[in-house]
Amino acid sequence: MKKLIRSGSVTVNGIVVKDEAYHICDKDLVQLSGTVVKPHRKVYLVFNKPAGYVSDRTEDEASIYDLIDHPYSDELQVAGRLDKDVEGLLILSNDGSFIHRIISPKWHVEKEYLVHFEGELTSHKIQAVSEGLEVGVERFKPAKIRLLTPGLLSLTIREGKYHQVKKMMKALDLKYTKIQRIRIGNITLGNLRFGEFRELSEQEIKLLFLNP
Ligand code: URA
Repeated sequence: MKKLIRSGSVTVNGIVVKDEAYHICDKDLVQLSGTVVKPHRKVYLVFNKPAGYVSDRTEDEASIYDLIDHPYSDELQVAGRLDKDVEGLLILSNDGSFIHRIISPKWHVEKEYLVHFEGELTSHKIQAVSEGLEVGVERFKPAKIRLLTPGLLSLTIREGKYHQVKKMMKALDLKYTKIQRIRIGNITLGNLRFGEFRELSEQEIKLLFLNP
């Protein structure tokens, strides 16, 4: 970069700047040989994951990263993976502390899932979920479960243990046929179709951590 600056290839607001210590501000237009150069920025995406894609970067299977055509896609990490067969809302960012805040149980950010299921969701089971399920040595924190229509329930958890929704369904003796995450904090899918993403606005990022 230093060499390029000294050689006169860089302009600020159309004027060649050869001093590498020159300070620019947000509204300055910086160009390198005529191409606009933008400062590195933090990126926050919401993505509607289709079933059949893994949430990891891999060449071996279809990956969500194959669907995210974004200049920063190499840097993006998911805030809470979804299993290959699970669909719905994923948040991705290159801001590590933001991701940590979503996934850390300490911050109690809600994650809501719709689950299509077979079996009976009794009031006893609803009560057990609200008190915190125990499955062998594993204990899940109190969560919210409600029946939406026959065979469809909403489950809201504030932690993100490995296969948590599937394990909770098993503990309740309910067979899931489809799982979809529809909300993280205040962020919902809106009208995103499967495989589509959009950037979160500053306002949405601020509101994410407020309770819905
Ligand atoms: N719980 C699961 O079991 N799977 C997911 O992908 C997400 C939550």
